[in-house]
Amino acid sequence: MSDADAAPRSVGVVVVAAGSGTRLGAAVPKAFVELAGRSLLDHAVCRVLAVPGVVRVVVVVPAAYVERVQHTVLAAPRRGSSASRRSSTGPQVLVVAGGAERTDSVAAGLAALGSDVDLVLVHDAARALAPVALFERVIAALDAGAEAVVPGLPLTDTVKVVDADGYVRDTPDRALLRAIQTPQGFTRAVLTRAHASGLQATDDAALAEACGIPVLVVPGEEDALKITTRDDLARASLRSALLGEV
Ligand code: CTP
Ligand code: MG
Repeated sequence: MSDADAAPRSVGVVVVAAGSGTRLGAAVPKAFVELAGRSLLDHAVCRVLAVPGVVRVVVVVPAAYVERVQHTVLAAPRRGSSASRRSSTGPQVLVVAGGAERTDSVAAGLAALGSDVDLVLVHDAARALAPVALFERVIAALDAGAEAVVPGLPLTDTVKVVDADGYVRDTPDRALLRAIQTPQGFTRAVLTRAHASGLQATDDAALAEACGIPVLVVPGEEDALKITTRDDLARASLRSALLGEV
């Protein structure tokens, strides 16, 4: 047991699932697309409910889906999964409507989370298979004193900066690059400050960076891949089968 284990803190999680999934091109918003017989949102929420120390979860969905998620999707993780054991004593779950951009959806979730949580993890429902251990790794880094923590994986491709005419401008040193995932963790004060900036970004760490807050990178997980396209969904389906979830 480290000092971190003794630190008094409560953890809230915002699961953003209010995107339309344009690039996936399914008939329903991406979070409601099925993988191994369950929605991506169901996979994500089920894992979040199994994370030790989480006291409240805010699920952010398209406005038209708020009621049905309250009645259906949230009931599913309580059936026969590890989360079911936590259903009576586990985290409180709230469902709210998202906004036009991801940043707006996170802000809506953060507003609903309440001021009695010390640490906030923001997670994309699109990273439906992110393992519980990854959440625990991010929380541990926050407990150890970091104010902002993101998981990241080294890249295998060489990355180039390309100008509007298609010409390469720069080749950053690959060893310094990381592909950043969620869950991203923050002290509540830092995330609130980052969102008060009014900026929009594709992740919350970018808002924190813009405020000059140091962001720590911890090792990510291949299973936390973001499902964006049909190919991603097929890859996630294979990973889910390997995890024994079908
Ligand atoms: N998201 C959200 N609210 C938005 C946009 C995105 O809650 N207005 C969520 C998505 O539901 C997803 C995560 O943010 O879980 C990451 O976004 P992304 O993968 O881009 O999903 P979509 O925006 O739904 O997909 P696309 O960009 O292809 O439309
Ligand atoms: Mg998007």
